[in-house]
Amino acid sequence: MKKYSNVFVFDHPLIKHKVAILRDKHTGMKEFRELVEEITTMMTYESMRDVKLVPVQVETPLETTTQYKVPEESVAIVPILRAGLGMVNGVHKVFPTARVGHIGMYRDEETLEPQEYYCKLPDGIENKTVFLVDPMLATGGSACDALDALKKRGCKNIKFMAIIGAPEGVSRVAEAHPDVPVYVSTLDRQLNENGYILPGLGDAGDRLFGTK
Ligand code: PRP
Ligand code: URA
Repeated sequence: MKKYSNVFVFDHPLIKHKVAILRDKHTGMKEFRELVEEITTMMTYESMRDVKLVPVQVETPLETTTQYKVPEESVAIVPILRAGLGMVNGVHKVFPTARVGHIGMYRDEETLEPQEYYCKLPDGIENKTVFLVDPMLATGGSACDALDALKKRGCKNIKFMAIIGAPEGVSRVAEAHPDVPVYVSTLDRQLNENGYILPGLGDAGDRLFGTK
């Protein structure tokens, strides 16, 4: 895959360890959900290295000091339904007060084109740092459409986070949205003829929610 300045692939050994368990077809729903959450929390830490801190005055038992904090109310989380829901708690671990918007997308199984069926976003989202989350970045159609929907509503500072990315989808999002940093914990080999990621982990929504 070509190199993109807005694509970040994590190479952390603990993330690799957890992704290995996540992929395993014998990993059950409960453990799968917990792993998605844990990996998301680690990715959130890593993706906030560039966050702008604001100065605050803190009184220690000894004196008053200027310290620096993340303005928490400036963060929003937007999962792409359904599977993105599995990542929300992972970001909330870091930003417990972040408002949550929802964008519903499903892939037409024949054409693989994403269809938007729901969109509800918190007021003022256009002034927040938005974490758009979806565990799977396959063809990139869903992510591109969700990013278009957020930008149409005025969002200017968006970070897209996926647990597994296929080169096809990562390139598509990176090129269509060069202003959006794309974080993937793991870059996989390719898509198969049905648009599934290889080696992948199967259908993330089904594994999170126990559907088929
Ligand atoms: C999956 C996944 C992404 C999308 C990725 O959702 O959660 O949203 O496919 O594929 P793409 O990059 O080719 O668009 P799916 O459509 O299966 O819906 P679900 O989350 O409700 O299961
Ligand atoms: N969506 C999934 O859940 N898994 C894939 O491999 C591709 C799209």
